[in-house]
Amino acid sequence: MQAELGETIIEAETIQRRVRELGEAITRDYQGREVVLVGVLKGAAMFLVDLARAIELPVTMDFMAVSSYGKSTETSGIVRILKDLEESIEGRDVLVVEDIVDSGLTLRYILDYLLARGPASVRVCALLDKQVPRRATVPIDYTGFVIPNRFVVGYGLDYAELYRNLPYVAELQVSHENGGGPEPL
Ligand code: IMP
Ligand code: MG
Repeated sequence: MQAELGETIIEAETIQRRVRELGEAITRDYQGREVVLVGVLKGAAMFLVDLARAIELPVTMDFMAVSSYGKSTETSGIVRILKDLEESIEGRDVLVVEDIVDSGLTLRYILDYLLARGPASVRVCALLDKQVPRRATVPIDYTGFVIPNRFVVGYGLDYAELYRNLPYVAELQVSHENGGGPEPL
């Protein structure tokens, strides 16, 4: 399988402008409070550090890393926690920062996990909202961009761990060397 960068979906300057707007909205909404930004590694790393600098409030940052067990468990939405939070979120205002919401299963699991820890509030800020039928209901309080159902990379998003460092978001074109036929097992 070969992958190459396709069309740019969101330019770097457009991302940075939107991040500033989101930071301003969050600053307004949480006036007088302290926010715990919870980033989901690794995809949300770029977004979280830029967003944090656009928020003019006392902010702390914590990270979780999760992985799905694979296709069969995706259906049940079971996610394995590879790295847990380091600080307690009890009684605190938590803002989950995600790179992209696709089926919604990962985010739903994370939300339930966080809600069980007694925070004062939990909201979600997602850079990208992919237009696909959701398999789990997830409220997205702050959305960067709504994108069509394509596989995208850049600004944290990867394909086989690559492309995360691109400052823009582009479509990834995956071509099959055997001419588009079924993949050999
Ligand atoms: P969900 O559980 O289906 O919502 O999947 C969310 C996770 O899948 C994201 O946090 C990403 O890590 C990954 N993902 C979904 N769509 C894309 C994409 O277009 N490019 C890169 N990663 C993606
Ligand atoms: Mg992710």
